[in-house]
Amino acid sequence: MSTVANSLLNQAREVERLVAGQPTSDGAGVKLNRVLTQNLQRRLDPFLMLDHFGTDNPDDYIAGFPDHPHRGFETITYMLNGRMRHRDSAGHEGLISDGGVQWMTAGRGVIHSETPEQNAGRMAGFQLWLNLPARDKMREPWYRDIAGAEVPEFERDGVTVRVIAGASHGVTGAVQRDATEPLYLDLQLPAGARFEQLLPAEHNAFVYVYEGALRFESGCQVPSGRMAVLANTPGSDGVRLTAGDAPTRALLIAGKPLNEPIAQYGPFVMNTDAELMQAVRDFQAGRLA
Ligand code: FE2
Repeated sequence: MSTVANSLLNQAREVERLVAGQPTSDGAGVKLNRVLTQNLQRRLDPFLMLDHFGTDNPDDYIAGFPDHPHRGFETITYMLNGRMRHRDSAGHEGLISDGGVQWMTAGRGVIHSETPEQNAGRMAGFQLWLNLPARDKMREPWYRDIAGAEVPEFERDGVTVRVIAGASHGVTGAVQRDATEPLYLDLQLPAGARFEQLLPAEHNAFVYVYEGALRFESGCQVPSGRMAVLANTPGSDGVRLTAGDAPTRALLIAGKPLNEPIAQYGPFVMNTDAELMQAVRDFQAGRLA
């Protein structure tokens, strides 16, 4: 039972562990923090990776991500600041800028480039990798650009909620997926504000704080730059987040696990090593895209 006044929840999830991520560089030398790393793929199934890029130094991002392949999953790029041009082998082209989202389903194969369209100022955002079920890994590629103004948004008790995927408090997000039921929220909380979200206990979930700090009833504090993996407590029905003493921004991401084997080789994520070798052969032979 909840002891919190006006709570939607009977039992809130707590933090299982905090993760700092790994500073790394990818593409042609873009500096970023890999928050969700390969060793967490099983624990956070269906999510495979989360990168956070954020810098005022153009040298950290200017080279971008030249042509590279993907097969077997989806990439979701969310730009907070700056502009990124996307071009792919399926003929899609788009520009994502402040608050916009690009959702790309690689399926059987896409070769694409992601290029900053600015040479000064701040570039910040996230790229999340969402797995596809085995039956969809070789489907046709799919792509959608969602402009910042088109991302569904609402305010509740002072908290601004942007719903990139799934649904929150009756507001349906920009993208839905049947197999993995992803929930992807960007939250802006004033100091001390509280936000609650219903979540099925079996869905894997995490929170990534990128400004300010969050606290949980257990006393656990989640500072900026940390991911909190949320426990799948049996009988729990959601999560309750409370901002610390400063305005706070965080991503809340959850999904239904696929419970299928995960085999990754760089930009290919399949179910078996044989399928990975096939992906490499197809790419080398020009058959991937
Ligand atoms: Fe990519």
